[in-house]
Amino acid sequence: MSTPLPPDAAAHLADSYPHNHNYRIRSGKLKPSWQLWTRSRRIRKHYTPGGTSLLDLSSCKGFFLFDAILRIGMQRVRGIDVHGPDVDASRAAMEHLGVADKVRIDQLHLHQVAAEVQAGITAPFDTALLINTYHYLFFGSRREEHHYESHAEIFECLAALTSKGGRLIFSNRVEVALCPKHIQERAKEMGRASRYDEVQIRSAIDPFFQIEPRGKLGKIPLWILHRR
Ligand SMILES: C[S@@+](CC[C@H](N)C(=O)[O-])C[C@H]1O[C@@H](n2cnc3c(N)ncnc32)[C@H](O)[C@@H]1O
Repeated sequence: MSTPLPPDAAAHLADSYPHNHNYRIRSGKLKPSWQLWTRSRRIRKHYTPGGTSLLDLSSCKGFFLFDAILRIGMQRVRGIDVHGPDVDASRAAMEHLGVADKVRIDQLHLHQVAAEVQAGITAPFDTALLINTYHYLFFGSRREEHHYESHAEIFECLAALTSKGGRLIFSNRVEVALCPKHIQERAKEMGRASRYDEVQIRSAIDPFFQIEPRGKLGKIPLWILHRR
């Protein structure tokens, strides 16, 4: 008998920000919204071929974690997010789906999980996802003020987390003028707007990953980053 999904968790998964990550669970099956279904089809096909482990660095309500286990058969899946309510609701979904032996979800920052790998506590992952979150890492957000000092610092952590020969699936606006308005305002207040553009982001990526642009996810660039 599966652990019941508490109604507040079910409501959070089905209808909360961001709306393109809303889904329901019916009889142990994931029922994504149309937007999430479309996005997940595009993202999933770029996972490292034959890979058995996945790390989602902004796992939000957890859909990509559970999809990796239930649809693809991955064996080791990890999610981190800075937002407590998302972590709580996705953990409730994990218990309900009966996948707690393969999934771990924590309220952590990127550098904290990278430190686990550098200390040998956690193995790197075949596929890592960083979807619609990069500008928050660089500028912080309303949810979480914490931010990184440089693009290089972020990609050094991302490289530590991705196995050699593995992939980081990256989708984000790479020009500050195209980021959400509140991010543009933060960028100006912080005096960092001129430090966020495609050339600077690519040059921080280059020592660690080979970039393969794959068009757009909706209106947002999608790059497959192959770990060198
Ligand atoms: C637009 S959502 C994307 C969620 C998910 N990756 C997806 O594509 O559906 C942005 C995510 O970034 C997280 N986030 C917000 N501020 C952050 C920060 N300063 N540092 C790290 N993550 C942050 C949020 O909690 C949220 O899960």
